[in-house]
Amino acid sequence: MEYRTLGSSDLRVAAIGLGTLPFAGGYGPLDDQAARVTLRRALDCGINFIDTSDNYGGGEVEKLVGQALAGRRSEAIVATKGGTALDAQGRVTNDARAETIVRAAEESLRRLGTDWIDLYQVHLPDPATPVAETVGALERLVKQGKVRYVGLSNFWEDDLRRWWAVGSAIANQLPYNFLHRDIEGGLLSLCREQGMGIIAYQPLLFGLFAGKLGPPESLHDQDHRKSYPGFGDLVRATEVLRARLAALAREWGLTPAQLALRWAISRPGVTCAIPGAKRPEQAEENARAGERAFTREELREIDRILAEHRVSPVRAFPCPVDAVVEGPHGRYAVLRRGIKVRVPHGVEAGDTVDMDIVTGGISEEGADGLVGGR
Ligand SMILES: NC(=O)c1ccc[n+]([C@@H]2O[C@H](COP(=O)([O-])OP(=O)(O)OC[C@H]3O[C@@H](n4cnc5c(N)ncnc54)[C@H](OP(=O)(O)O)[C@@H]3O)[C@@H](O)[C@H]2O)c1
Repeated sequence: MEYRTLGSSDLRVAAIGLGTLPFAGGYGPLDDQAARVTLRRALDCGINFIDTSDNYGGGEVEKLVGQALAGRRSEAIVATKGGTALDAQGRVTNDARAETIVRAAEESLRRLGTDWIDLYQVHLPDPATPVAETVGALERLVKQGKVRYVGLSNFWEDDLRRWWAVGSAIANQLPYNFLHRDIEGGLLSLCREQGMGIIAYQPLLFGLFAGKLGPPESLHDQDHRKSYPGFGDLVRATEVLRARLAALAREWGLTPAQLALRWAISRPGVTCAIPGAKRPEQAEENARAGERAFTREELREIDRILAEHRVSPVRAFPCPVDAVVEGPHGRYAVLRRGIKVRVPHGVEAGDTVDMDIVTGGISEEGADGLVGGR
């Protein structure tokens, strides 16, 4: 396993980490024992970076991580996230107010059964809270020794610049896989310049690029892929591409999952990828992708196949707007699903906006690009 320094910190993380979202059951039911065994196997394979969140399974996943790490805490670099909360209507919303962050971090420590969190990540930007307030709360947690380093998640350029104006962070967690390559458009180099590591999430695109996924109809009713907008189309549209990539993987003595993961960690600026895993064998297989990065020639070969079989999935997801509010950093909308997003002028309550399901940006009517970001 290759180990890399995460941003400007002294954390040496495995190039392949472990994402724990599947432990919440959203990829089909998973019993707690299977989750704990998977996590321990990951550690045995050199995966020392574990990513979780206070809202995976309503906190239950943090408890599982804590149980699995009992007696082995010092072997792991634990990253969790806070900054979301349930609103008055019981919907998950972004909430990075100081009191929410401090309470959430304390609760995460308790559930994880640990005295310190190695990386505490703001799950997504909160346009309703002054950035300085969130930064102040996190700095206090660091001073108290409860958090070692501050990280961000889903922060795109505008939000990053707002953050950097008042604070710092060592890492940013963003989607990165064969189809979702938005970070290559300048964000990677920007983060590198600022000493910020990139943690690539959904590196297998929900397991699609692991090569073993059956048709969407075969998925369990609880599996979120069944209801993910356009997932069936995505499966069909990527069929030829996946076959080509699988053939290349075979030729190179890799599995499709290893090809996808090694590709992700080979991009300069990407520190590590955090594939989710449901079974110990998956963690073991994924760990082997982290033995080395691809050479430039190998990367070029994969990128040539990706360019030949370009797939452009639909990413706009219509979201009704409940309210539009003037926030500390500009106007934002409260979407019907509870999330708050910055919106361009002209958007009003009662409108429906198109949200990009990858970046969380809202498309501006009549314009090509996306503005804002979650
Ligand atoms: N910051 C954020 O907003 C955010 C958002 C999403 C995710 N994340 C983090 O990123 C992590 C990764 O994302 P993800 O878990 O959603 O997606 P992913 O890593 O792209 O896919 C995970 C799924 O792929 C399948 N899989 C994994 N390894 C495999 C292997 N070797 N062979 C075959 N199938 C394999 C498993 O499902 P099946 O076996 O059922 O196919 C697994 O549940 C999460 O766990 C979470 O920690 C963060």
